[in-house]
Amino acid sequence: MKVSIIGAGYVGVITALGFGELGHEVMVMDQDVNKINQLVSGQMPFYERGAQESLQSNISAGKVHFTCSMSDVIEFAELIFLCVGTPPLDDGSADLSAIESIARTIAEQATSAKCLVEKSTVPAGTSQWIERTLRLYGRNGVTFYVASNPEFLQEGNALDDFLNPSRIVIGVKDDYAKDLLLELYRDLDSPKLVCDIETAELIKHASNSFLAMKISYINLVADLCERVGADVRTVAYGIGLDPRIGSNFLNAGLGYGGSCFPKDTKAFVHMARTVGLDFSLLERVDLINRSRVDVILSKLRATLWSLKGKRITILGLAFKPHTDDVREAPALRIISKLLDEGAIVSAYDPKASHNARGAMIDLGYDPSEIRFTADSYEALEDSHALVIATEWPDFAELDPDRIYKLMRTPIIVDGRNLLIDKDLGNCGFEYYPIGIAK
Ligand code: UDX
Ligand code: UDX
Repeated sequence: MKVSIIGAGYVGVITALGFGELGHEVMVMDQDVNKINQLVSGQMPFYERGAQESLQSNISAGKVHFTCSMSDVIEFAELIFLCVGTPPLDDGSADLSAIESIARTIAEQATSAKCLVEKSTVPAGTSQWIERTLRLYGRNGVTFYVASNPEFLQEGNALDDFLNPSRIVIGVKDDYAKDLLLELYRDLDSPKLVCDIETAELIKHASNSFLAMKISYINLVADLCERVGADVRTVAYGIGLDPRIGSNFLNAGLGYGGSCFPKDTKAFVHMARTVGLDFSLLERVDLINRSRVDVILSKLRATLWSLKGKRITILGLAFKPHTDDVREAPALRIISKLLDEGAIVSAYDPKASHNARGAMIDLGYDPSEIRFTADSYEALEDSHALVIATEWPDFAELDPDRIYKLMRTPIIVDGRNLLIDKDLGNCGFEYYPIGIAK
């Protein structure tokens, strides 16, 4: 089948590559000319495991095409996937302006039947607005369909998640759109849930918010463990043995970042409020999450006393390993707070340093205030303390003796409990994990 995709971000590009791998022919459009030029030249605009190879093989197989032309991408296929960003507004609601303007453009330009598919995470009820927009601006005689097909791609494993999904959710109002989407996913033998559109839209927000709640819950338990002399890893293992709870997403630490959990929990709270419901439980989840960086800062102050003038090393800048995405990354908030307290910061990430530099500029910081280094050891030179902010496997391979010699004072605050089994106390370090009493 032919598929059009609007939005060449983490979701749009991976979705395109996945459809290409399934044998479909895909055209992807984005307003960002640089991004499209990179893709046309066979270069991924962001790091995602396996994507570079898939991009090149899909291009040589003639399966994916990239354009900045809205008219080309509208013309290309009957199925049009909306993969544009739905970032949070100040009041927590999702900014749907891109979705709205694209729906209007499609209505005005389409000369044949189109099925608009929400891939971007949108609040329940959005499809009704899309339908109204298509009716208001649509040309006479052109038929439009709307569907919801939310993405469940975990960054760092996105292409594999697309090709081996835990479930495919298809929200439709009519058999025509249902048949189109079932045909599109025919070769994927994962559970296919066909339901109404509002239910499909709600599944995504409810799913991400629940996972976020699970993380904030174990982080609360971690803080209690430190005070009563328990080990949060064993508590997590112990409760996770109950199949009703499960062991995943119970890793205590710096909490969640990324472009999904923070924005989806806020959007869910806002959407519930617009229909008169109090989802303040999820506001607490978000508050607990944001306070995780303060846990790290208080550990640093408890061992270094004043942070002013102290050299602090941050290893890990991406919001999680195996991605270069720094959106809502806890590391950036730690760096901001350290700079505000007059500390001197060195930072290293295997993939995300460039994006982190740009993000710190967007936060109003002078990037020259942060020493972005070429490797971990350079970042540790003359350092008073090391903070592990992202659990990249490379950091677990660092040589403790070499680190000990490089650092001014051998202090490690491990925001992801990555080095917990390295017995660093016996190597002369002061080692501070999360949720494990010393
Ligand atoms: C985003 C959200 O983060 C995710 O929650 C949602 O499910 C899908 O949209 P992501 O791919 O990470 O996913 O977004 P982003 O990386 O911001 O990419 C969005 C792309 O859409 C950008 O490349 C942007 O240039 C493009 N865009 C946005 C358009 O082409 N036209 C527009 O009008 C707006
Ligand atoms: C998430 C959902 O998992 C995915 O299904 C959805 O489609 C998009 O949002 P993503 O945001 O890419 O995926 O990353 P994920 O692996 O879910 O981790 C999100 C954040 O939670 C990361 O910052 C990670 O460090 C943190 N996390 C995860 C924890 O702090 N503890 C855990 O146990 C798991």
